[in-house]
Order: sequence, then C-alpha cells, then structure tokens
Amino acid sequence: MMTEISEAHARELAKQAARKAELAEICQRDLAGCDRILFEAGCGHGHWLSDYAEAHPDTICVGIDLISWRIRKGNDKKAKRGIQNLYFYKAELGEFLGALPASLRFERTVLLFPDPWPKAKHHRRRMVQSALLDELARRTDVGGEFCFRSDDRPYFDWAVEHLQAHDEWIIDEAAPWPYESETYFQSLMDAYFSVIAKRV
Ligand SMILES: C[S@@+](CC[C@H](N)C(=O)[O-])C[C@H]1O[C@@H](n2cnc3c(N)ncnc32)[C@H](O)[C@@H]1O
Repeated sequence: MMTEISEAHARELAKQAARKAELAEICQRDLAGCDRILFEAGCGHGHWLSDYAEAHPDTICVGIDLISWRIRKGNDKKAKRGIQNLYFYKAELGEFLGALPASLRFERTVLLFPDPWPKAKHHRRRMVQSALLDELARRTDVGGEFCFRSDDRPYFDWAVEHLQAHDEWIIDEAAPWPYESETYFQSLMDAYFSVIAKRV
C-alpha cells in the first residue's frame, strides 16, 4: 500500500517537474530579451488583456489561465488581430511563477474577477494569499502595481486586508484603473469593487 502511494506521488512529482520544464522552455523562447511584463493571472478568454496589449504596443503582456479552451480563445483573438506583444499560457499560477526566469520583472499584475471560493474551508484556494503578494513584491520594482477587481465583497475585503497587512504593498486610492475594457465575467455583473496597490 505504502509503495503504491509513494509510486503515485513520485509519478505526480515527475509530471509537475515536466510541466515546469516545458513552461520554462516556452517562456524562455517567447520572452527572450524581454525584461518586464504586464501580467494577468486568471485571464479567462483574454478579453481585457488583448485590448490592453493593443492599446499599449510597447508593453509585453502575459496572461495565464488553468483552462485550455479559454487560452485557445485568447490565442484566437491574438492571431485574428495580429497582436505581437501578447502571450497566453495554459498554466497554474504557482507553477507559472516557479517556471519564469527569476530576472523577469512585473510592471503591473492584474487579477480580474478571480474565483471567490466563498466557503471558509476553500479560502486557501483563493489566488490572493500572503505568499503570492511576497512573490509579486520580489518581482515588482518600487512604483509597480497590483490591480484587483471582484464582484464578491468578501473576497474584495480579503484582498484589501492582505494588502494592508503587507509591508511592501500600499493601497493607492487615488490611482486610476489602468485600463477599462469589460471582461467576460465583468459583463455578467451589476457591481464590482476595485483596488490598486503600489509596490513600496
Ligand atoms: C471567474 S474567472 C474570471 C476570468 C476573467 N478574468 C474574466 O474576468 O472574465 C476566473 C479564472 O481564473 C482561472 N484560475 C483560477 N485559479 C487559477 C490558478 N491558480 N492559476 C491560473 N488560473 C486560475 C480560472 O480558470 C478562470 O478562468
């Protein structure tokens, strides 16, 4: 029994290592020569990021999502509109950050309508966690931004509390939202809340 479990565990670890190596290779190929990006985690169909990239042709924009068909839709938009400064990857957030070159800097990180995981026992699945804010702080220069938008008030309050508790992020209530373009989930919501924090 123990042997079966440890064999299954070893297979899972090997799969994770292979996924990480593949992602690292793809990122190195696409982002060679690039030292900073705008990063969107949980980009869904890539509506917002495609529009942002088109409006900011000098910024390399990178979006990730767990779901393959959403990433395919993003890549279809990129191809149809011939957007050169845009990359979508199917990846899990932690795995992706672990696979990126350590030298790559984030000028802005954006989370739009991330899954709220309302039950307390699922809060650990929320993307906003102290460890994520630590990792983003390591990759963001002073003045860089973390932008969060949600229709879910408890998750919004959670994000604000985590930012307030973090020494390297400060909420900037005067900062304008970097770019307005409706995401798929935004188009379904009547109301939402936004917060921007700056790296200090
Ligand atoms: C509610 S949808 C919002 C999508 C898009 N931002 C929008 O506003 O239309 C949340 C997205 O985050 C993705 N997601 C959730 N957890 C993730 C993770 N750990 N890493 C990458 N993507 C994740 C989901 O697959 C889903 O597409």
